[in-house]
Amino acid sequence: MMLRIPGVLDARQVEACRRLLLSAEWVDGRVTAGHQSARVKNNLQVPEADANGRKVGETILDALNANNLFISAALPLRVFPPLFNRYGPGHAFGNHVDNAIRQSRGGLHIRTDLSATLFLTSPEDYDGGELVAEDTFGSHAVKLPAGDMVLYPASSLHHVRPVTRGERMSSFFWIQSLIADDGERTQLYQLDQAIQRLAQDHPGHSSVDRLTAVYHNLVRRWAEV
Ligand code: NI
Repeated sequence: MMLRIPGVLDARQVEACRRLLLSAEWVDGRVTAGHQSARVKNNLQVPEADANGRKVGETILDALNANNLFISAALPLRVFPPLFNRYGPGHAFGNHVDNAIRQSRGGLHIRTDLSATLFLTSPEDYDGGELVAEDTFGSHAVKLPAGDMVLYPASSLHHVRPVTRGERMSSFFWIQSLIADDGERTQLYQLDQAIQRLAQDHPGHSSVDRLTAVYHNLVRRWAEV
């Protein structure tokens, strides 16, 4: 499932994050690329150890912890500390799949079930730079307002189209979910959203408790902790 999560950061937070990142150190993006991706990757990245990058990463993780839509869709077990990239004119990232396992600086291993891109530049400030991800229904081009995030299965082949004007800055990271299987996770998300809607539209409806029990019992059956 590919999902847009609007307003992970508000305009003020986006501005503060951008300011910190603009004074960070930027290096060739191939530092975090696997063997295959390195051949098609051409962008800039903030090194994992950069103090400004880590500060912005914490802001993002705090925002995600308080974001019900993110929790419902990702059912996160571990989140990789957010990384940051920039694509200026001529920069792009060809078709690739993200590494299955990532190890953070702290030595934490994460199985990448979901990939996330949080946009930090307004779409009118650059041309090109769409994230294009494939699923069984075809490919989807994504370019979101600053502060919005897209979540998609890390198993998808994806690429970033060349930027032809301006500059695209964003954060990217991975999530290991309690629910490894994308199909099972999607069903739980749909069920959770339906329960919330039912509880809102028909407060006190007796089916809410029963459906909530089904939800938790499915999580119990499928979750790996
Ligand atoms: Ni990627």
